[in-house]
Amino acid sequence: MKIAIIGTGRVGLVTGACFAEKGHQVICIDNNLQKIDQLKKGKVPFYEPGLQELVSRNCRKKRLIFSSHIKDAVNFSEIIFITVGTPLTENGAADLSDIESVCYEIAQCLKILPKDKLGYRLIVEKSTVPVETGEKIKNLIKKYAPQANFEVASNPEFLQEGCAIKTTLYPDRIIVGVESKQAESIMRQLYASFQAPLVITDIKSAELIKHASNSFLAMKISFINAIARICDLVKADVTEVARGMGLDHRIGQEFLKAGIGYGGSCLPKDIAAFSYISRQLGYQFELLNKVQEINNTQIDYFIDKIKKELRHLKDKVLALWGLSFKPNTDDIRESPAIKIALRLIKEGAKLKVYDPKAMKEARTILGKSVRYAKSAYEAVRKVEALVIATDWEEFRQINLLRVKKLMLHPLIFDGRNIFDPKTMKELGYTYHCIGRP
Ligand code: UDX
Repeated sequence: MKIAIIGTGRVGLVTGACFAEKGHQVICIDNNLQKIDQLKKGKVPFYEPGLQELVSRNCRKKRLIFSSHIKDAVNFSEIIFITVGTPLTENGAADLSDIESVCYEIAQCLKILPKDKLGYRLIVEKSTVPVETGEKIKNLIKKYAPQANFEVASNPEFLQEGCAIKTTLYPDRIIVGVESKQAESIMRQLYASFQAPLVITDIKSAELIKHASNSFLAMKISFINAIARICDLVKADVTEVARGMGLDHRIGQEFLKAGIGYGGSCLPKDIAAFSYISRQLGYQFELLNKVQEINNTQIDYFIDKIKKELRHLKDKVLALWGLSFKPNTDDIRESPAIKIALRLIKEGAKLKVYDPKAMKEARTILGKSVRYAKSAYEAVRKVEALVIATDWEEFRQINLLRVKKLMLHPLIFDGRNIFDPKTMKELGYTYHCIGRP
């Protein structure tokens, strides 16, 4: 099938490349000319495991092309995905201005379709949006192109950065919100080769499924982080509590890892936007507010642990391992690791930072306020303590004896619980983690 993707960011590019891999003809559009130029040369502008190869292969096979003109999308394809960003505004609402301007442009193009390109278009919202955005998109396009033959559908994305290709090609489920049999049949055809339950529903329910799912995941993380604080009070082990809880299949093992809280471009934004839209609709979703509150204070909780042990941080040289918001990505948006770096700098600490992939991105925020180490080992040389903020596999595999020799003091603050406290004690470390004795 012919598909257009408008918005070639982390979601749009992965979605486009995966549809191409399934044999569809895909055109990806973005108004960032530099990005499109780079992609035309076959270069992916960010790090996501396997994506470079996937994009190169599908470009070579001419199933994946790029353009900066929405007209190309509208002329080329029957299915047009909108995957532009929906950042938060200051009051916590989702900013739909990019979606609105894309709709305006789509409408303008629908009005002047060449004769040989006339026909039905299905416009699919994939960006995370508040409930009833589908309705808005429909009304906007209708307003600017009253004669256009189109429908709107919702198909929320659930891809997880760091394993985006796997979670797109092999999703747990595919959610599709439609208003007609025709739209349903197109979406069924599009996903025919995917081995996943297809949930066909109405547009508003589909939109809610996305916000509700991400909020539920965030709730699990905040829940276990609250349990971790209780564990600290009584010297119990939160990983054991999580394991015991998670074996109940109604609860499940995933998203019960205690740490320094959730970050990234989705969970923090989606929970805030869901709370906001609920309030607008007349329901105070207090539970979500608590989820956010626990998350927002988890970093303070961790910094307090550091301050308690080191007393003050002024001029103390510390190593920080991890800058991305989670492993296997260079994405630092809403990264708890970056927040920790900024807090430590504010307290007067001198930081040596290292991340396997996110150094370049981190420089855009941390600038000259820290030193950038070339390796995890270089970062810990002659430091008073090591702070771990992202659970990269590279850190789990590190030679802890070598690390100990390089440090001034064998002192580690692990915000991601990556090491076993007993082993750390045997190795002679003073090891502070979250919710484990
Ligand atoms: C998330 C959703 O999982 C995905 O379905 C969605 O559509 C987009 O948003 P992503 O932002 O890529 O995906 O990251 P995710 O794997 O959900 O992790 C989010 C944050 O939670 C990270 O900072 C991670 O470190 C943290 N996390 C995750 C925990 O602290 N504990 C856990 O047990 C799991």
